[in-house]
Amino acid sequence: MHIESKNIFHDFSTESGDLPVLRDLSFSVAKGAFIALVGPSGCGKSTITKLLSGLLQPKKGEVLISGEKVINPRSSIGMAFQNPVLLEWRNVLDNITLPLEIVAKSSSVGKRKARARELLKLVGLTEFETSKPSELSGGMKQRVSLCRSLVHKPELLILDEPFGALDAFTKEDLWQTMHQLKREENFTCILITHDLREAVFLADEIIVLTGRPAKVQYKLEVALGKHRKIEDLYSTKTAKTIAMLRKQIEIGQAR
Ligand SMILES: Nc1ncnc2c1ncn2[C@@H]1O[C@H](COP(=O)(O)OP(=O)(O)O)[C@@H](O)[C@H]1O
Ligand SMILES: [Mg+2]
Repeated sequence: MHIESKNIFHDFSTESGDLPVLRDLSFSVAKGAFIALVGPSGCGKSTITKLLSGLLQPKKGEVLISGEKVINPRSSIGMAFQNPVLLEWRNVLDNITLPLEIVAKSSSVGKRKARARELLKLVGLTEFETSKPSELSGGMKQRVSLCRSLVHKPELLILDEPFGALDAFTKEDLWQTMHQLKREENFTCILITHDLREAVFLADEIIVLTGRPAKVQYKLEVALGKHRKIEDLYSTKTAKTIAMLRKQIEIGQAR
């Protein structure tokens, strides 16, 4: 297994006492897999991303990546969030190369730019490399954010609701771009989402979490095959899968 979350317990200290957020959370992700974590708002999903990336240490239990315990932030991870947070004074290309300026200081400027251009081509934004973030639509900004999260060729990509603020059509475009990126770049992906269609369209496996404190309620292998088309989202099979996931979320929330 590539990534293992082993019996994780986590709580936050608040003014009104300890808030239990994760309770005996265990799951594993094979190398190259695409996993979606779904669960009710506030159940602890973003906390899980912080534990996986080493930004936070669990109170009990451990996270292992390639058998190694995660004890501090790692450069072999890429992350993207709902808010793309691009630097307004840098153009698109220079926003994407930013992580390389930090983790690959010795690489030449030419190499960094070539890598950023490779990704811009994959997401269809070649003509916008000199644009400023303010000149881009929400969907375009999110494409740039995805390029930035992948520029250093991370082993693991963690996506925390990156498509959450986009309109339905833009979302579907981005989902297809995600498949394209996954095919071309060799990463393992953990997607946090509350959108069940998104989870079904993108993931190989979906993990449903209970309400807080979160643990695994249900796991489902998505039976849609590797090459998915937007039409697959409107099939009876998909509708049935989504209905089943919804049911499990209700059960998990009641616990
Ligand atoms: N640093 C923190 N200090 C105290 N409470 C926190 C902190 N971060 C998150 N929480 C609380 O932990 C719970 C889970 O948060 P989060 O992981 O962000 O949930 P989700 O991403 O599933 O919506 C929420 O109740 C939130 O208020
Ligand atoms: Mg969150």
